[in-house]
Amino acid sequence: MKSAKYWIEKLELIPHPEGGYFKEAFRSEEGISKTALPERYTSGRNYYSSIYFLLKNDDISAFHRLKSDEVWHHYEGCSVELHVLSEGGGYKLLKLGKDLENGETPQVKMKKGDWFGAELRDKRRYALTGCTVAPAFEYEDFEFGRKSELLKEYPEQKEVIERLGIKK
Ligand code: GUN
Repeated sequence: MKSAKYWIEKLELIPHPEGGYFKEAFRSEEGISKTALPERYTSGRNYYSSIYFLLKNDDISAFHRLKSDEVWHHYEGCSVELHVLSEGGGYKLLKLGKDLENGETPQVKMKKGDWFGAELRDKRRYALTGCTVAPAFEYEDFEFGRKSELLKEYPEQKEVIERLGIKK
């Protein structure tokens, strides 16, 4: 079994602001104009982009939300638990992995506008995943969740918000 270090070095992954390690893999050379996109986008976008994303041990992907749906793919390592705080209320746990009998799936969809964060099922291991988003990712479409605001909106999820939230 290859190590986290192997993938980080070979794929030239760098630390991601949300936690873990990443590198953009592909970005569409074609694009869509602002006028053809919903109003929430501030300018035109490439059609799609994708990244490699790796979590190891205690790494987390801190709670954030995107303006577009994002599809996660599982490549290697242990499964990943994605905690979703749905826009408009509610919580769900999605398991990204290959153990179908245990409710894992090799792809999961993070819906636009939902808050989500991720952690490894087994903190002794790592997971190499991919994240694909359309229209393409821009930091303008990305927002970190503030712990205080998430706690107000989702008080029943205090434990996971404390664990995967980053800002006060
Ligand atoms: N590019 C930089 N950060 C990200 C991210 O969090 N998701 C996706 N899909 N692309 C990115």
